[in-house]
Amino acid sequence: MSAFNPMIMGVLKTFSSVIALRNFLAQQRAENCIGFVPTMGALHEGHLSLVDRALESCELVVVSIFVNPAQFNDPADLETYPRDIVHDLELLSRFESVVVFHPTVEEVYPEDLQWVDLDPGSLGTVMEGSFRPGHFAGVMRVVKRLFDIVEPHQVFFGEKDFQQLAIIRFMCNELGLNVEIIACPTNREASGLARSSRNRRLSEREQEKATIIYRTLKAMRENVHGKTPEELIALAENMFVSSGLELEYIEIVDPHTLQPLTDWIPGSHACLAAHCGDVRLIDNIQIVPLFA
Ligand code: PAF
Repeated sequence: MSAFNPMIMGVLKTFSSVIALRNFLAQQRAENCIGFVPTMGALHEGHLSLVDRALESCELVVVSIFVNPAQFNDPADLETYPRDIVHDLELLSRFESVVVFHPTVEEVYPEDLQWVDLDPGSLGTVMEGSFRPGHFAGVMRVVKRLFDIVEPHQVFFGEKDFQQLAIIRFMCNELGLNVEIIACPTNREASGLARSSRNRRLSEREQEKATIIYRTLKAMRENVHGKTPEELIALAENMFVSSGLELEYIEIVDPHTLQPLTDWIPGSHACLAAHCGDVRLIDNIQIVPLFA
């Protein structure tokens, strides 16, 4: 692959039209590895670490900023989802070789767009899928549409959205998509709190309280020996009792099928969702190494 065209280096190119982006990428595709970081904006260091990672292996990185209505099952959640495009563009302007795709809803979902609803099967009925009906159908719809627009070689997703990552891999396999999905480690605050756009809706006090999430996950990993998954879940539930957070679910699952485990297997994974005030947070951790 050749070096990226210096003509656009140092200038943040921003596209809102599908056609304009596709025309631009058509000129780049032959010679450059195109990376893609899909986001819903309200960018933070976690997103920027995905861009950094993408730039390690791609000459050109497309960052999309699009709050996808199709993946919100709760209209209030969609309404209060943080948006800050000016700050987002400011953060991204530090990168060379990055272009931004910031489309409208009509541009992503034109009236004449044909799509087939994709079903994540049993990967989509547990955890987030059972508490947020329709969420993953909406994620798959937008991710497939964005893949069709950008046609990236590599796409970068954070492991914080563990179930989303598994479902996107599943979708790529099912549809035979020629794209490499690259999982990037969860980016955390010094306190251990997983970085999320939703964190900006937490007060300082709530941010402090929310550290119980990662402390609990770490305690689970440290106490795995001699305990069953059920006992470890009980330990985690106890830790939440006087935390001020409301635990929505905590599961220990098979990392591939995402089904709950009663016995340990390599890669056993703990995933949880909790409410801190009116902000819903998720996180996960690998409890048992994949390879001993
Ligand atoms: O993880 C997210 O921010 C969103 O689910 C994604 C992948 C950008 C699709 O809207």
